[in-house]
Amino acid sequence: MAAGSPIEQPQRIFSQLNALLRTVELYPPAHVRIVQAKQTLHGDMTAFLDAHQRLEYRFLGDLLLANDRILPRESVVYRNLLDVCQNERGIGLMTFTQGFELWELDALLEALGQGLVGSLESWAARTAVTHVTLTPPIEAGKQAGEVAARRAYYGSVEALREIESTVQRQAPLSGEHIGALRLLTSTILDQIVQTPGLTLRLASIKSYDEYTLYHSVNVAVISIGLGLVIGLPVAMIREIAMTGMLHDLGKIAVPVEIVQKPGPLTEDEWIVMRRHPALGAQVLSHLAGSNRLAMIVAFEHHRRFDMTGYPLSPRAGPQHIVSRLACVADVYDAMTSRRVYKGAVPSRQVCAYVREESGRIFDPRFIRILDHMVQWLSHHGEGEFIR
Ligand SMILES: [Fe+2]
Ligand SMILES: [Fe+2]
Repeated sequence: MAAGSPIEQPQRIFSQLNALLRTVELYPPAHVRIVQAKQTLHGDMTAFLDAHQRLEYRFLGDLLLANDRILPRESVVYRNLLDVCQNERGIGLMTFTQGFELWELDALLEALGQGLVGSLESWAARTAVTHVTLTPPIEAGKQAGEVAARRAYYGSVEALREIESTVQRQAPLSGEHIGALRLLTSTILDQIVQTPGLTLRLASIKSYDEYTLYHSVNVAVISIGLGLVIGLPVAMIREIAMTGMLHDLGKIAVPVEIVQKPGPLTEDEWIVMRRHPALGAQVLSHLAGSNRLAMIVAFEHHRRFDMTGYPLSPRAGPQHIVSRLACVADVYDAMTSRRVYKGAVPSRQVCAYVREESGRIFDPRFIRILDHMVQWLSHHGEGEFIR
């Protein structure tokens, strides 16, 4: 069976699960309809997990997310199931991993269908499931912030998509385009200030197919995290986050075959790729208003701390401090993302790499800042930033 696209297949699997839950209520367990529905669901789930290793359904109030992507239609269609899971079954997250077996589906149906007498932990221990994990919902107070932040995250992806298609059509970018992005960036920032743990949760949202759009939002999110660890004023962090959103704008002029190439680039392809900082800066230079910092960062983010990167410009001075911050955020997201040609690297390894390349690619001052952000947020990210 085909694995399907990373978006369509989770939609189908969720609708199969919903239909199965209804069928189980109507027919005896050995009925052919139930047996067939289970096999179909299990087959599709296995195909998806073989291709993608993991499938997460997260319930956030009236939102359904599959692998951290909002499913707008399914959020409405399955509102009742979302409500039952969160409020009656105490489930906020279902995680399936590769190797999910048919009997584990029975255990899941028990937890979802009749509800459990004991806790989710005792259900997991009693049934001995290993390829499905059920986690309680996020506390109601925090949920609103989480939903607002995720909506703003996806809104930013949309806003960037709109900006890119405008530039591609060679139409001028308006203040409204940037204004919409600024508003969404502010929402993300406000939510991270209240719940710093959101930084790593939002930055873990990745897209295999639309890498550059999601990468841009992630660089903004990581820049916010770094800015808060440093203790910068919120107004300044907002400007820095905007530079993250726009740093790779020049990549729209690079052919998609090069941006998405499943392997190392040839020297000729690198020549084209290395144009993106200058192209991005050029697009941003036509914008009215205070976008000078975004222009500088777009131009400088690959120049490196020791100035051996690109674009080469003999007259340019040292990299701007915000470009150095963006460079750390950029590499952090690129390394923690799975690409066609490489797997995702754990965040601790990224910290080690930044330390290794300190003084060459990275400003040495950012080693401690990144370490602090990753370590602290991984353990205690729900409170306020400790400096
Ligand atoms: Fe770049
Ligand atoms: Fe980048």
